Amino acid sequence: MRIYECADERAMSRRAAGIIASQVILKPECVLGLATGSTPVGAYQNLVEWYKNGDLSFAGVKTVNLDEYLGLAPTHDQSYRYFMQQNLFDHIDVKPENTHVLNGLAEDPAAECAAYDEMIASLGGIDLQLLGMGHNGHIAFNEPGDDFGLGTHVVTLSERTIDANQRFFASRDDVPRHALSMGIRSIMGASKILIVVSGEAKAESLARAVAGPVTNAVPASVLQLHPDVTLVADSAALSVLKREGGLK
Ligand code: F6R
Repeated sequence: MRIYECADERAMSRRAAGIIASQVILKPECVLGLATGSTPVGAYQNLVEWYKNGDLSFAGVKTVNLDEYLGLAPTHDQSYRYFMQQNLFDHIDVKPENTHVLNGLAEDPAAECAAYDEMIASLGGIDLQLLGMGHNGHIAFNEPGDDFGLGTHVVTLSERTIDANQRFFASRDDVPRHALSMGIRSIMGASKILIVVSGEAKAESLARAVAGPVTNAVPASVLQLHPDVTLVADSAALSVLKREGGLK
């Protein structure tokens, strides 16, 4: 695992955007795996800026997103499709038909998940998968204890994730209890992985993920088994790993 320590979240975002931009420049027809959440927002802002400056084009890029809440329409302001439109897709030249987000209103969620894995395979797989990490070490909606062998599947959100996501909804009761999510197997199938982590609140989980045993108790620890992972994190997120001597 390659680890880049950045002074703060702003520097982390710029570094992560640079890695995504390099992928797009080197292979303009690439498949990008994308994430939602607060951590990648700054990276998306940089990409939009570089597109507007004429330094980057997404005209040939295809995107696949990690996850979506079950039961939310694409137009719901907390759906991940809506998030992607607002934070990236509406501001760059990616073709709408080349952006893929799981359908939260699918009548048959299991069939939607199976079709999503087939769609990713038909695109030739993911060149670069961007990930955030939850406070409990989750990646996408793969929660502690989940099976590493799963492809895209329906998940039940943990109480901790519901708590963490509550801030985006009017009340805790409004947070969906289920989601559709790429599984660890789908994520590990990407050629390259870029994970962005910021803030001291995630430092303990990040240390476990990078230097602890590979265990489904810390889903991000599975990334130790992937041959091409880049971690871009701010110093606060790396504080525990550094204290324990895990950052060379
Ligand atoms: C988002 C996703 C989640 C987030 C994670 C961190 O598509 O799959 O796993 O990456 O919950 O979220 P933030 O960045 O908001 O702390």
